[in-house]
Amino acid sequence: PTALAGRHFLKELDFTEEEFRGLVELAAELKAAKKAGTETQYLRGRNIALIFEKTSTRTRCAFEVAAADQGAHTTYLDPSGSQIGHKESVRDTARVLGRMFDAIEYRGDSQAGVEELAAHAGVPVYNGLTDDWHPTQMLADVLTMTEHGTRPLTETAFAYLGDARFNMGNSYLVTGALLGMDVRIVAPKSYWPAQEIVDRARELAESSGARITLTEDVAEGVAGADFVATDVWVSMGEPKTVWDERITALAPYAVTMDVLRATGNPDVKFLHCLPAFHDLGTKVGREIHESHGLTSLEVTDEVFESAHSVVFDEAENRLHTIKAVLVATLA
Ligand code: CP
Ligand code: NVA
Repeated sequence: PTALAGRHFLKELDFTEEEFRGLVELAAELKAAKKAGTETQYLRGRNIALIFEKTSTRTRCAFEVAAADQGAHTTYLDPSGSQIGHKESVRDTARVLGRMFDAIEYRGDSQAGVEELAAHAGVPVYNGLTDDWHPTQMLADVLTMTEHGTRPLTETAFAYLGDARFNMGNSYLVTGALLGMDVRIVAPKSYWPAQEIVDRARELAESSGARITLTEDVAEGVAGADFVATDVWVSMGEPKTVWDERITALAPYAVTMDVLRATGNPDVKFLHCLPAFHDLGTKVGREIHESHGLTSLEVTDEVFESAHSVVFDEAENRLHTIKAVLVATLA
């Protein structure tokens, strides 16, 4: 068994800096092995349940392909297709699935829900996104930063622009703090992460050497950044009625070519966990265009399609990093 055998992955801070880095290194090895056609299957005969109470493209597919590559089987429970939370409590579901499966992935709104599942399942539980954290996404983003960065992580600066009170903003802040990075949260004050998360990040920074900046000033926030990241302004589960306030508050924080130029770094890279609203190619994009006359939201098409953008490497890395989590906790 590996050092992480049997462990849950419910939030980034379940792991030490060393463990988190170890997972990213394992993902890089698994990625190289897959590309070389020399991947070893460590999970033959294992069964993994995938519970999605919210929709997904990347996370679901990454779990399914990672498991298949490793010889494991997955069962997908779609946002309406199981009894969980409707006719059966999370606790009972955990005890049933724990008897059948070797591990369980869960995506839903409530962090307390995934924690309750983990408390009763008796097998490793992975958070595939809650309102609070998106930990598997962070492994992919860190792998992408190590691949595209020009300096060690501890000398790497990244700026997150947009709604920082939700999963992505929270996760970037604590992950950067854990790994000793120069982290900038760039948003209106009312969109900064909750004070307890900021306090925890500052505490981590004392031992990791991370620099933590929260600012409303875009130019200050992105100066010298190696990576600029953003996320959708309205997350899954939020009502459509918040679009107006989000657009008003966050439009100055949209990632444009001017924002990338303001980094002063000609090699700056752009990250987005996706899905992104950068054009009219989505239903939501078209609706917002009709109601607000906007052709892009959190990022312009120009940035998204530019050589700065590494979003599809980031998306691919969901596969390799989720595979690392499965191998590390189940092999
Ligand atoms: N980034 C991400 O989690 O994408 P999905 O919602 O498609 O899984
Ligand atoms: N903040 C977004 C992330 C999607 C991967 C959401 O929760 O919808």
